[in-house]
Amino acid sequence: MTVSPHVILDQVSFAYGERVAISDLSLTLKERRVGLIGSNGSGKSSLLRLIHGLAQPTKGSVTTLGLSTKADRKKIPSRVGFLFQDPDRQIIFPTVGEEIAFGFEEQGRTRREARNEALSWLTRYGRSDWPERGVQELSEGQRQLVCLISVIALDPGLILLDEPFASLDLRTRLAFADQLEALPQPLVMASHDFDFLTRFERIIWLEHGRIQADGPPETVLSAYEAAARAQPEVMP
Ligand SMILES: Nc1ncnc2c1ncn2[C@@H]1O[C@H](COP(=O)(O)OP(=O)(O)OP(=O)(O)O)[C@@H](O)[C@H]1O
Ligand SMILES: [Mg+2]
Repeated sequence: MTVSPHVILDQVSFAYGERVAISDLSLTLKERRVGLIGSNGSGKSSLLRLIHGLAQPTKGSVTTLGLSTKADRKKIPSRVGFLFQDPDRQIIFPTVGEEIAFGFEEQGRTRREARNEALSWLTRYGRSDWPERGVQELSEGQRQLVCLISVIALDPGLILLDEPFASLDLRTRLAFADQLEALPQPLVMASHDFDFLTRFERIIWLEHGRIQADGPPETVLSAYEAAARAQPEVMP
């Protein structure tokens, strides 16, 4: 069976002003679970932003779920879920219930349906008392949980997660890891959670906006770890 790629990068470069974040990167992603690793500043978040069309390449082109992130940019948010590294960049509404319900309203549900749906997702995670809670009164990990729920609940065709577990407690992380594993749609995730990444099909190791290694977790994770131990101060 041939699987059509969900992401294609064709000779993509991307810079913030003078600072190059992604350098002449070509990639075809077909695997259900792809992990992104690399040092701080290596380009993981930039790559995810390019795949979602939140950032536009300075050179080359990106195709996500068959859509050009340039020409079809407006169609992407309804099909591709994106979890920001920083939950505060994601959250728009004052209460948890409104934040999660918003996506359902965008999908055409009535306000009441959307609120009920949000409540049922919160109940699934044991947070049925959260709809009226002010988002800014939650801890960082709790805000991250709200963002994760709002991405997954909308059942997107592709899910992009930027370090989703960074602030979650162990119990919540384990529950989410199992749930993410069971999801049918493809996932591209930047993470330093090696336990979870060992279950992935493909790991891409970025440094300086280029691919340092690309392959199965057993090869790439151990090479990354060996490099970090050999040169604890400076990665290649
Ligand atoms: N808003 C910005 N303005 C200018 N430069 C930026 C901005 N965001 C990132 N950069 C630069 O782009 C490069 C890639 O950053 P990026 O955020 O993609 O890295 P990352 O691998 O996600 O890092 P981390 O592990 O810290 O999340 C870095 O050199 C960084 O300094
Ligand atoms: Mg990042």
